[in-house]
Amino acid sequence: MCGIAGYLGSRSAVPVVVDQLRRLEYRGYDSAGVAAVRSAGEVDLRAVEIQIVKTEGKLQALVDKLNGGMPEARLAIAHTRWATHGRPSTPNAHPHPDDSGKIVVCHNGIIENYVELRGWLQGQGHEFRSETDTEVLPHLIAEYYEGDLEQAVRDALARVRGSFAIVVVSADHPDLLVAARKDSPLVVGLGDGEYFVASDIPALLPYTRDVLVLEDHDLAVIRPTGVTIRSLRGGEVKREPMRVTWDSAAAEKQGYDHFMLKEIHEQPSTIRDTLRGRIAEGRVDLSELGIDPAKAQAIDRIYLVGCGTAYHAGLVAAQTWERRLRIPVAAELASEFRYREPVLNERSLVVLISQSGETADTLAAMREAQAHGSTTVGLVNVVGSTLAREADHALYTQAGPEICVASTKAYTSQLTALSLLGLYLTQLREALPAAEVAALLEALSAIPGQVESILAKEEEIVRAAEFFSDCHDFFFLGRGLDYALAQEGALKLKEISYRHSEALAAGEMKHGTLALVTESVSAIAVATQDALREKLASNLKEVKARGAYVFTVAREGDAEIEHSSDQVFRVPNSHDSLMPILAIIPLQLLAYYIARNGGCEIDQPRNLAKSVTVE
Ligand code: M6R
Repeated sequence: MCGIAGYLGSRSAVPVVVDQLRRLEYRGYDSAGVAAVRSAGEVDLRAVEIQIVKTEGKLQALVDKLNGGMPEARLAIAHTRWATHGRPSTPNAHPHPDDSGKIVVCHNGIIENYVELRGWLQGQGHEFRSETDTEVLPHLIAEYYEGDLEQAVRDALARVRGSFAIVVVSADHPDLLVAARKDSPLVVGLGDGEYFVASDIPALLPYTRDVLVLEDHDLAVIRPTGVTIRSLRGGEVKREPMRVTWDSAAAEKQGYDHFMLKEIHEQPSTIRDTLRGRIAEGRVDLSELGIDPAKAQAIDRIYLVGCGTAYHAGLVAAQTWERRLRIPVAAELASEFRYREPVLNERSLVVLISQSGETADTLAAMREAQAHGSTTVGLVNVVGSTLAREADHALYTQAGPEICVASTKAYTSQLTALSLLGLYLTQLREALPAAEVAALLEALSAIPGQVESILAKEEEIVRAAEFFSDCHDFFFLGRGLDYALAQEGALKLKEISYRHSEALAAGEMKHGTLALVTESVSAIAVATQDALREKLASNLKEVKARGAYVFTVAREGDAEIEHSSDQVFRVPNSHDSLMPILAIIPLQLLAYYIARNGGCEIDQPRNLAKSVTVE
């Protein structure tokens, strides 16, 4: 939610921060802006001024505006917005200046007490030009400013309630960039005599691999001579730089028309990467987690918590884990979890699933679980993210940077890592015979190759998508794990194609929804669960009898399904519990090609943003 960039060094700063924004645009894209501190290094401070250029619309609109000319600067900050307070518009776009135009701020997060602060600042004579919560920040910093920018930022933030990641520049300090965070991510890239600030690591990859991950209440003071991190409450804190191993090419489209298509095609290798080094001699080795076996044996309840796609991954794992571990395992929406007062104690295990590791509701769920003494595991993709740092144990999904807002490779990596973690728990609790675990791991190791074989049949999906081009109502149907998967298939289609798509447990159709089925409706069915095959086939016949066209994703060799479907897409056979990793691939491709044929902006769907850092 909102992307922040900053640069201080010897390069021309504006092109650098604009390039960083391009790599952060998935975080928000309703308006963008840049502030350049002119004459950085100028001896006569009266000559220094900050020029702001901002505009409503996508980053390209800002780039077009900048082509009208932007000053040379060595220090600049920039922002791409996802509106929370105040509609998308040029005045509401960041950066925001104070009255004098000498203090300028970009912000990600929500200032919860901004109404009260705004009233107080107006009483002090400050004039506001936007409807945003953010604008209180430059005015508040100016109010406390007595020549020391760092101290003014600290004093201002002490009055703020809410979440923030900010970068601040001042015309009085053309060689100083101040950054701070609480409950919103911010990283500092360390170059050779140059420094970068960004919301996410992918924005730093072309410039540096050495990264300082700021933690909550950190304030970074960045000068040409180096970076000092202090606590917002005062006192220096030590943050060790981390070396990022992600390949910078991984955050580029590499010839694909969209990041989504590229990320779908990366899945054989991202699943392989998630498995690498974690299977040995027919057993799962997740000693990297550092879970105490005695503690694992004492667990009497498990929650799998996430939002959106991550929640859907939890839905799949919850069914499988419960069946094997014989203790209650529930998938929970992070945005609901803490409000329903779940049973949590020191015998509970709470697995927080998140690609970004920064989703506000998922982090809040983790803190709720920790407050009750429960053990938390962060199943997370982004190295150094808040979830990775704050969960008691972290398990990385190894999907590499996911740029498209719609999650694809993160989902299959989550399913893969959850399969490993579930089996690891069965090992620690001796819940399954060793031979069964070994057979499941063999099947899991075959998945990357099977995904490759599905991708080789992409043309079949291209044709199916053409067939569906005029359809605007889709029901995704399945039973058991296929229903869990149907929910992810429906989400993919709706979020990028804007078509109505809804997932239903197939057995529920006749309890109401069948009333909506006509010839203009299509059913996308998932039929991979052996035990439920016949029941699902009957449900599909009921839908077909009422005129809906039925497209089914089914196993190779399941001849019966032909009788209840108009069209069948075959996926290779695996163990029932692993079929979702295979069956989602055609559904991802179907969503992609339907959206593409409809001329939709696939990587940046309307109203959405990746990494939802507000509740
Ligand atoms: O970063 P997270 O995995 O915590 O994000 C959770 C959801 O916001 C995310 O999966 C979202 O639903 C995707 N846009 C779905 O494609």
